[in-house]
Order: sequence, then C-alpha cells, then structure tokens
Amino acid sequence: MEIGIDQIGFFTPNKFVDMVDLAHARGEDPNKFLIGIGQDRMAVADQTQDAVSMGINATAEYLDQVDLDHLGLLIFATESGIDQSKSASLFVKEALGLPAKIRTFEIKEACFALTASLQVARDYVRAHPHHSAMIIGSDIARYGLSTPGEVTQGAGAISMLIKEDPAIIALEDGHTSYSENINDFWRPNNFQTALVDGHYSRDVYLDFFRHTFAPYLEEKGLEVKDFAGICYHLPYTKMGFKAHSIAIEGQDDAVKQRLSDNFQLSAKYSREVGNIYTASLYMSVLSLLEKGNLQPGDRVGFFSYGSGAMAEFFSGKIVEGYERRLRPAMHKRMLQERIRLGVGQYEETFTEAMQTLPENVEFTSDANRGTWYLAGQKGYVRQYRQK
Ligand code: COA
Repeated sequence: MEIGIDQIGFFTPNKFVDMVDLAHARGEDPNKFLIGIGQDRMAVADQTQDAVSMGINATAEYLDQVDLDHLGLLIFATESGIDQSKSASLFVKEALGLPAKIRTFEIKEACFALTASLQVARDYVRAHPHHSAMIIGSDIARYGLSTPGEVTQGAGAISMLIKEDPAIIALEDGHTSYSENINDFWRPNNFQTALVDGHYSRDVYLDFFRHTFAPYLEEKGLEVKDFAGICYHLPYTKMGFKAHSIAIEGQDDAVKQRLSDNFQLSAKYSREVGNIYTASLYMSVLSLLEKGNLQPGDRVGFFSYGSGAMAEFFSGKIVEGYERRLRPAMHKRMLQERIRLGVGQYEETFTEAMQTLPENVEFTSDANRGTWYLAGQKGYVRQYRQK
C-alpha cells in the first residue's frame, strides 16, 4: 500500500518586512541578509495571528476535499504553543467542524515535530487502511528585535492530509534518524523569544545531515544521482544551501546542476516568508512542487532537523498528476497581496503581538475576508473567528 501526502495547505500572515529595509535600519550591508543569510523578506504575525489561527487557515484551504467520515487523526506540531496543557488541535477541530471521534493531540520537538507527525500519521494509515490523518505545523519564529537571529524570523503554517494512494507524494519505506541532547536553540517556559547559539546550531545541523544522509543512501542502496531534488529544513536558506553543498560533493556536473536548480526552487517560499520552524521543510517541499518541473516517479529527499537536537532523512516519489492537486496561483496571490511594513511599523507590530493577553480583550483583524484570526480572549480562553 502506498501512503503519503494527498493535500498540502499553506498560510502566512498578511504583513512582511523587507530585508533591505531591515539591513539599513540595523546598519548592516543588505548583501549580508540577501546573500549571506539568503532571505529577501520575512512574514510578520500581528496580534491577530497565532499558531492556531494560522493552522486553521492552512487546513481550510483543502478541507472541502477531505472525506471527514474517514478522518481518524489530527496532530498539531508547534513550538509556539498557546497553552501549557490543552492541545492547539482542539481549537482547529472546533473551528473547522471536524468529527468528534478523531484522535487529536499536540506534539513538540522543535522543528522536527511536523516530521514526527508525518511518521506517526503514516503508521496510523498503515494500521487503519482507508483512514486518513491530518497534520499541521504552525509557528511564529521570534528571536527579538536587533538580535543576530532577527533576520531569521518568520511566521506561517503548513497542513497536510496523509492517506493511502496519495495524490502528491508517495513516501518510501525507511528513514535514518540521529539525535543528541544538546543546547543549540531552546525557549524556556518564561521566555517569549528563543535562545540560540546560531553558529553552533549551524555546525550541529550539518553534522546531523552527515549522520543521516550517507547512512540513508547506504541503507537503501541509493546514490545521490537517484534524487531529482532534496528538500531541507530551512531556518534560513543559507543553512540548507550548506547541507546541499555537502550532498553534491564529488557529483558530476549534470547531477550538481539538477540538484542545485531544484534547491533554489525549493527555497523560494522560504526567501519570502522566513523561518516557520517545524513547517519550514514542508514549505520547501511545496515550493519545489509549485515552482519546479518534477516528473511522476521522481524521487525527492527530505532532511528534517529540530534543535535540541533530532534529525531524520527519508524520501518520497512524485505521483502522476500531482500538479492538479496544487494551488500555486492562490499562494502567489497570498504572498503578493501582503502589506509591506516599514521597520518602525514592524517593531510596533512585533512588540504588540508579544504582549501577554489580559483576561478579557477583543481584537479586530485587517486580513482578507474568509481568513481565520485570533479575535481576543474571554476569561483567559482564546477566541477564534473568521472574517
Ligand atoms: N555579503 C555577503 N555575505 C555576507 C556579508 C556580505 N556583505 N556579510 C556577511 N556575510 C555572510 C557571512 O560570511 C556568513 O556566511 P557563512 O555562514 O557562509 O560564513 C553569513 O553572511 C552570516 O554572517 P554571520 O557573521 O555568521 O552572521 P551573524 O553572526 O549575524 O549570525 C546567524 C547569523 C544565522 C547565525 C543568526 O542569524 C542566527 O543565530 N539565527 C538563528 C539560527 C537558527 O535559527 N538556528 C536554529 C534553527 S536550526
């Protein structure tokens, strides 16, 4: 039985800051951000968008095509949780009218959590044929104003439907994992922004890529040339580019060219949106699917990394007719219609969105009609509404 990705929904908030504007405001050479870090713009979540509302929006994109009678599992992966106890997925379930009988929970391991959800969903579908699983990764990456990590922030969500006979990517059996207890990036309970040792994190990410990629090739009897493209977790595109450079070492020119072209295509959404933590790898996959020219049967590699740290490499094959399942025009419009914030406006929006919510508060949203948003809090219960 083939199991894999049958639907992919994508959402990012309606505001961004341009990296050239940010570089000027911070006294940096714009090329450091554009080339050295590899980012053009970054999404900014105002106080009306949180992990839940973004997750609802990404899922709403394909909900009308889901057979709800056979949906059995909903997993919400995030490191931007809105409650220490209750799962974010319950808010999604209510907003979208998902069946009461599904199993649902939230899951965390930094940027690895959506991959963990994908693997759990795959095993669930294997054990429950004809049933599907919905997995959502939704995050707001916050390092703080004028910090070295500021340029690698962002916000957004990816939602996927995992089922048998998938329409987009059929996952191949097997994976290689690697983990170690280290402190490259973390966010203690009393912090709203992440603590990060960026240079150390980069080195660990590359080390973990070496620990998973070559063993995967060996275990599966594959060579680098067997991949049409490899997608990476992209906290910023330069990080993935460094792993890509390791992957193509010693390959012939045609293989190098193909994988390099597809790397650039996989990084296009990331360059516009920034880091969306656990969904970043899957935003890269979506970018390659929508911007590239993959053929049925092409093999795509997935490198997942979550600080702390946990990594996994696995692969999937492109399904015939996959392009008919994608909505590139919708995503292009979502990115094009965003509001460009000046750096002062971005700083205000960022600071406002980080404030602890009082017991009772109401927000209005300037998002497009149909968008779900955080409308405030009543008795410390978050309220979500659709515009
Ligand atoms: N033109 C082109 N490139 C330039 C440049 C210029 N004018 N100025 C600097 N650069 C390059 C540097 O050479 C460097 O490239 P390299 O990494 O290939 O060597 C890159 O820009 C970044 O410069 P650096 O001095 O390392 O930047 P920094 O000290 O400000 O830190 C990060 C950059 C990425 C480490 C920092 O933003 C960070 O910690 N981000 C968070 C990372 C993260 O999310 N980690 C956890 C998730 S996996």
